[in-house]
Amino acid sequence: MSRILSAVAWPYANGPRHIGHVAGFGIPSDVFSRYMRMAGHDVLMVSGTDEHGTPILVQADKEGVSAQELADRYNRVIVEDLTALGLSYDLFTRTTTRNHYAVVQEMFRTVHKNGYMIERTTKGAVSPSTGRTLPDRYIEGTCPICGYDGARGDQCDNCGNQLDAIELINPKSKINGETPKFVESEHFFLDLPAFVDALGDWLRTRTGWRPNVLKFSLNLLDDVRPRAMTRDIDWGIPVPLDGWEQNPTKRLYVWFDAVIGYLSASIEWARRSGDPDAWRQWWNDPEALSYYFMGKDNITFHSQIWPAELLGYDGKGSRGGAPGAYGSLNLPTEVVSSEFLNVEGKQFSTSRGRVILVRDMLARYQPDALRYYISVAGPEMQDVDFTWAEFKRRTNDELVAGWGNLVNRTASMVHKNFGEIPTPGRREPVDEALVAEVTTAFGRVGELVGAHRQRQALQEAMRVVTEANRYVSETEPWKLKTDPDRLATVLHTTTQAVSDLNTLLAPFLPHSAQQVHEALGGTGTFSPQPRIDEVTDLDDDSRHYPVITGDYTAVRGTWQPKAVVPGTKVDKPTPVFTKLDDAIVEEELERLRQS
Ligand code: MF3
Ligand code: ZN
Repeated sequence: MSRILSAVAWPYANGPRHIGHVAGFGIPSDVFSRYMRMAGHDVLMVSGTDEHGTPILVQADKEGVSAQELADRYNRVIVEDLTALGLSYDLFTRTTTRNHYAVVQEMFRTVHKNGYMIERTTKGAVSPSTGRTLPDRYIEGTCPICGYDGARGDQCDNCGNQLDAIELINPKSKINGETPKFVESEHFFLDLPAFVDALGDWLRTRTGWRPNVLKFSLNLLDDVRPRAMTRDIDWGIPVPLDGWEQNPTKRLYVWFDAVIGYLSASIEWARRSGDPDAWRQWWNDPEALSYYFMGKDNITFHSQIWPAELLGYDGKGSRGGAPGAYGSLNLPTEVVSSEFLNVEGKQFSTSRGRVILVRDMLARYQPDALRYYISVAGPEMQDVDFTWAEFKRRTNDELVAGWGNLVNRTASMVHKNFGEIPTPGRREPVDEALVAEVTTAFGRVGELVGAHRQRQALQEAMRVVTEANRYVSETEPWKLKTDPDRLATVLHTTTQAVSDLNTLLAPFLPHSAQQVHEALGGTGTFSPQPRIDEVTDLDDDSRHYPVITGDYTAVRGTWQPKAVVPGTKVDKPTPVFTKLDDAIVEEELERLRQS
């Protein structure tokens, strides 16, 4: 048994999430966490909404509300969407809790005390009309290196070079088109060069990472510069130092605070559980494992910035130092980054309205249909395209005609012939072969999920579904009316296979897993689901917010075959999966064109 931290990327609370987001961080982290619990491990799965930074401010201005109001609005929307998808967080919270502020400030103070926050004067862009700072990526201009005229202030997408906004030729604000002013300002920089050796030592001992992610992370070490961890902005966490804390226009950089969410959410979870130190088992014990799930645009922050913050806190950079009150904190075991999901051949684009929102998808389709598609055909190692035709095909041919049909015909035949799971007679080799096939699948599927190869894992489970369907076709139970003993053996074997396949599929298809369990006469919670609790901020009675949480202990250690019980009553089944009409493809394409 291991302690496993599932650290899931924090979605920005600046709008509802689209299926590209949940394909990157959401579904893979949930499949992994559900499997690990079933395999007997002690999983702590945490995340929340990321509520600071310019993206929130820009959207708040657009909607004519305050940043906090905007964050409140979309925090709730996101909580509802992720819950409806069945993402089994132990705690999904937010970055505007007092607990998070306190943890972030403790991290900053200690990293600063250990000597890894360098104070420097820089020239930053300011909007002449609003007086507000313009973050680099909201400035556009001509690249000084390649001459491309759509370069952003942080980097040029044409030549790939990192830029400073001040280097751009003819810089313009992307928000309102005006020319920014550059003014001097004091900031704290995280001394990344002081961690190059420690980061290299850590990265070079990583095994099992996706090759692209490891290579990208190692490459980052070739050009390491101090990186600003404060901003001239009025929305964010105050810098906890004399002379800074009271300044309303200096705040910590959103990425400095967001990655600390993994730790602060673990602490919040422990405080809410009644054992305030419980989080330490996942963070201070060097044997504990931690997996970070995200899309590829987040790799830098998880394989460089966050580990550097942790090393700085622990005093493990070239300047030494000593850990603060949280003690020595574990570096990530693995940064599990996925690639991008495109839609019908093009990128998702929130600004252009070219998105499929999780909310809209779940209003029209079963959550497990989306989970199935993403798990079997998602952007695990390369960018992939979501198409409605393929969604329909996978749902109808694989989920409905493959798995759903097996469940349905098994339960129907058992119900019709016996009304209960029959007692088997002597097993023939064909029966033994199916049982063996299903039994050995636990090892293979589990290993693949554990190695973040979920597409292959699900394909393997579905291959066994096909085997089970073939078994039914070959043994032809409908022709065994005159041989009740053989009929009982065949239907018992089929029921056993369906029951165990349901266990194998449960991490991927948690909603239908509960239905299949019940279709075979099972009772109680087979596949637990998250719930939304309305809570009060632990350190401020006046603040309330929704969290996602749940009790998932029922599944602990269930990743193995389990004998079905003869005599269990089986009712006439209703189909678990809904077949999709051919017309949905055109309808959805039309929606996409109109959006
Ligand atoms: N909000 C970021 C994004 O959507 C992800 C933050 S992950 C965190 O890209 F852990 F750092 F918060
Ligand atoms: Zn360029």
